[in-house]
Parts: sequence; C-alpha cells; structure tokens
Amino acid sequence: MGNPMSRTDFMKYTAASGAAMLLSSLELFASDLGTSKIKVALIGCGSVSNRYIPHLQSSPLIEIVALCDIKYERALEQKKQYNLQSSTYKNIDEMLKGVPFDMMVTTTDMQVHGELNKKALLAGKHVWSEKPMANTYAEGKALLDLAKSKNVKLWGAPAVVNSPQFAFMNKIIQEGKLGRIASAHGQYGHTGPTWSAFFYEKGGGSMPDLGVYNIATLTALLGPAKSIMAMTSIVNPTRVVDDKGTVKVEAEDNAHLLLDHGKGIISHVMCGFNYFDPHGHEAKGQELHSIQIYGDKANMRLIGYDWETYGVYLDDSWDHAAKLYEPETGGYQWQEGATKVAESIVNNTHPKINVEHALHVLEIIESARKSSAEGRKINLTSSFKWPLF
Ligand SMILES: NC(=O)c1ccc[n+]([C@@H]2O[C@H](COP(=O)([O-])OP(=O)(O)OC[C@H]3O[C@@H](n4cnc5c(N)ncnc54)[C@H](O)[C@@H]3O)[C@@H](O)[C@H]2O)c1
Repeated sequence: MGNPMSRTDFMKYTAASGAAMLLSSLELFASDLGTSKIKVALIGCGSVSNRYIPHLQSSPLIEIVALCDIKYERALEQKKQYNLQSSTYKNIDEMLKGVPFDMMVTTTDMQVHGELNKKALLAGKHVWSEKPMANTYAEGKALLDLAKSKNVKLWGAPAVVNSPQFAFMNKIIQEGKLGRIASAHGQYGHTGPTWSAFFYEKGGGSMPDLGVYNIATLTALLGPAKSIMAMTSIVNPTRVVDDKGTVKVEAEDNAHLLLDHGKGIISHVMCGFNYFDPHGHEAKGQELHSIQIYGDKANMRLIGYDWETYGVYLDDSWDHAAKLYEPETGGYQWQEGATKVAESIVNNTHPKINVEHALHVLEIIESARKSSAEGRKINLTSSFKWPLF
C-alpha cells in the first residue's frame, strides 16, 4: 500500500519546487492522500479473472500491479484486454521477486491454491484465495497460523454472506421469525465446466467448486455443523475439456451432504456437474429456490443461487401468499470478495467474510468425502464465531 504523503512533507516538497513541479505534486498529493491504494497481484489469468479484474479495477482503493500465469500468454492477454499497467510474470517465484505488492488474489486451478497461498504468506503478503484456500483442512489451518505469525490476513471465497438476501435471511433467523428451525436445503449444479480438466481431477470436484456456496450459506445461517454424513459419486466417468481433451473424472461430480447444526437442526446440500439447468453456468434468470429453510412458524426460500441472488420469499401466514423481500442485489456481486477484503485493509475495517468460516467449510468438504468412502458419520472439529453478524 502506498504511504500517503504528509502535509508537512508536501509543503516542504512544493516550497522547493517551481510552478510546474507544484502542479505535478498537487496531482500526486491528491491521488496519494485521498486514496491510499493497496497494491494487488493476481495469479491465475483464466476464466474467472475476467470477473475479478474489472471488479478490482472498479475500486479507487486498489491498483493491480502484477499479473501471473504459468500460461504466460494469458497474463499478457489480460493486461492488454483490461488496459492495465501491471507487470507480468510466468510463475509465483518470479512475481514475488518482482514489483512490490500487498495482497495476492489466487484464481488458479484449485489444486495449487494451498502451495501458492503459502508462498505468498511466507513473503508477508495478504491473500484472498478462490475456493478452496487449500486442499485439506489441515493445510488450510496451517495457512491461517502462518498468516497470523506473519501478521497478514488470509481469506477464502465465496462471498455469499455479503448479499443483501443473506443479510435478510440472517436477520429473520436471528429475530426468531421462523420459530423453531428444523430443516434446510441447498442445491447448486450445472452440466460442468468445459474449459479446464482440473475441475474433474483429484482435488477438484463439485463440492469445492459448487457445493461450497450452499455449505457456506447454510453454516453461516444455521451455525457451525457438528457432524456430517454424505454420499458422493462419479456419474460421468470421462469428460471432454478444452485444455486436455478427454479426461478421466477422478473427483466427485455428484454429492449429497447431511449436516447436523445442533438443537435438532439438519440441513441438506446437493451439488453436481450433471444437473441440467437451462440457465447455465451464468445462472441468469434462475428462479429456482436454491436455498430453503423451514421452521415451525415460517419458511424462507431464496430465489436464484446464493451467489447470484434475486430475492427471498418469506412464507409466514396461513392467510396470505408468501411475500418477496430484497429483490435487488444492492450492488452485491459474487466476484466482489477480493475487492471488499482489499478495501477493508485500506480502511482498517472488518469485512463480513470470515476465514474461520471458510476453514469450517473446507473441513466439511473433506469430511464429506471421508464419510462417503467409509460409510459413516464424521464429527467435525472446526467452528467459527456465530452468528457472523
Ligand atoms: N470460472 C468461473 O466462473 C469461476 C467462478 C467462481 C470461482 N471460480 C474458481 O476460480 C478458480 C479458477 O477457475 P477458472 O475457471 O478461472 O479456471 P481456468 O482454468 O480458466 O484458469 C486457471 C488459470 O490458472 C493458471 N494456473 C494454474 N496453475 C498455476 C500456477 N501454479 N501459477 C500460475 N498460474 C497457474 C492456469 O494456467 C489458468 O490460466 C477455481 O478455484 C474456480 O473454482 C471460477
């Protein structure tokens, strides 16, 4: 982050300068003092970077100073496409030796998030990671311990708790308007990414790519889960993808999870890469109730997906139809996580997104695989401060 020039330094500097110098330093002063920018490096210039880069660029508090991809031409293409002044790098080691930066945004293949995040944290950088932040809960927990020891911040996607629809559902639950809560359901699927093999390789799968959103939403609304039972499967044994042609599917492309949140509350999540959805990967116009929560006084149904939200129906009367609340996004966008946490560093505020929550979600995903493989219930060890807000 650039240090703002102090007023005294500014006066000293300008007093010693001519009129031309004064003009240019005035510009410097305005840009530096008004907006102390955080310098961001983005690693992984593939599909999702097309959502991240413009969102990061939209913030006056952020400057993208570096782009990195092992497919180097992608870093160059994104620099050109988004008219950036950033330096470009072929790998993380080069980037860490290059232009100084404050925060790394990790949008690479899922399998390498853990090792890349570790390198950045060791170098004293803040990290925002796409999901999952690591391949295992133990690896994720070690990253958080490392971040704390280095006095830097670590966060993991998704940003679902930022939506006004989440805030509405959270408030309704916290106010007890649903009565005694019993059950909840979340679902998210489509027919699977077509561009990269890593989604189907070991360490990929529909849980860290898709189920992660519902797991994050339901645990944030209902509290940390105490145990899990799950069944996962591979429905489609091979896939044809742009980067590698025909590949063997090694990670689950179909998963059902049952979570025990305590006090009798059970939630269910289903996710997969074989779910026909005419709204596709972008989910535009989706009106499905992807999240449903039932109590004995009322129920709530989220329209759209929890990452792309269109409103919440609250059904709390025998006499009148369910009412739609929060039909607007309020500026929320699913790709906003990195921007919001970067801004929180500049402003010294606490974002809603919470790394212990992301770690809990990671433990759930890992434990779901274990539960399915061993055919038994798995007790969870992690937790997070709940309610989140
Ligand atoms: N595509 C989406 O719409 C979307 C949405 C939300 C989240 N995500 C998440 O974003 C991440 C990336 O997904 P994607 O769809 O953009 O994948 P992608 O395959 O399009 O892009 C990944 C990029 O990372 C690069 N990469 C891989 N290993 C690297 C390394 N060690 N160093 C530097 N670069 C490396 C690859 O060359 C590739 O360009 C995943 O975690 C995914 O779950 C994607």
